[in-house]
Amino acid sequence: MISGLLATPAHTSPKYLYDRLGSRLFEAITELPEYYPTRTEAAIFDAHALDMARAIGAIDTLVDLGAGNCAKALRLIPALCPARYVAVDISADFLAEAIAEVQRQHPALEVSGLGLDFSASPALPGGSLRGRSVFFYPGSSIGNFTPAEAHHFLAGVRRQAVGGGLLIGVDLVKPIEVLEPAYDDALGVTAAFNLNLLRHLNHLIASDFNAREWRHVAFFNRTDSRIEMHLEARHALSVSWPGGERRFAAGERLHTENSYKYSVESFAALLRDAGFARSEHWLDARGWFAVFWAQG
Ligand code: AVI
Repeated sequence: MISGLLATPAHTSPKYLYDRLGSRLFEAITELPEYYPTRTEAAIFDAHALDMARAIGAIDTLVDLGAGNCAKALRLIPALCPARYVAVDISADFLAEAIAEVQRQHPALEVSGLGLDFSASPALPGGSLRGRSVFFYPGSSIGNFTPAEAHHFLAGVRRQAVGGGLLIGVDLVKPIEVLEPAYDDALGVTAAFNLNLLRHLNHLIASDFNAREWRHVAFFNRTDSRIEMHLEARHALSVSWPGGERRFAAGERLHTENSYKYSVESFAALLRDAGFARSEHWLDARGWFAVFWAQG
């Protein structure tokens, strides 16, 4: 992470957005009127859960990657009827409360949680997968990977999902007037989410970032088909940590996140390149979001 802070332009992995407060702020983002992905995806699940269950078939293990508060799995479990549910999330603290709620609502379901960062490799510890496994990756988190990382991730899931598959939510390209406010909302919740990364870095590397000296910036980069989030220095400043220092000029940015937006065709091609032989998808009425079922 320090090499990214020292690079030009400076950058950090989006995983640093998610400490305990970051996960709570993200949860608040999903309730904002401007942030359409969560409710659009939920509408697709509500409208097509039974079609999805038919397409997917019997499930022994449902692996929820990036489970967060498990709300999306809770919506689908009644239709998909898995025998086991494994919730995976980078934030183990946050997960404990969420899986307790899943167990409360589904006492007969075998429920477990894994606090791990699968962004580098989606390989789960031996024994986590039993029988026919279906990976569930909702929320369009695949958009936070570069296309090369997305390929690596999908190929890794495909290797573990042979005989099962992957149910994945993907945000689609749409007018900039819809995209940009979703990442720069009127209440400033996304700004707080982005700025909180600085507090998280201070905790991790004992740096002295001062969130008041930075400004949230988000825009759609058409060339790369992605929303970019940055933090911009309000004035010339320097940040130090044990053994290092970085000066930022006024207006210089720290790139904190990309959120790639796909077309149905470009995502289907990505699935094919990763080794998934067949896929089908469901869309919302406006064609803003897609849920793909890719057979392993
Ligand atoms: C988690 N991920 C899919 C969100 C997104 O839309 O890229 C993260 C986020 N960043 C800003 N707002 C939401």
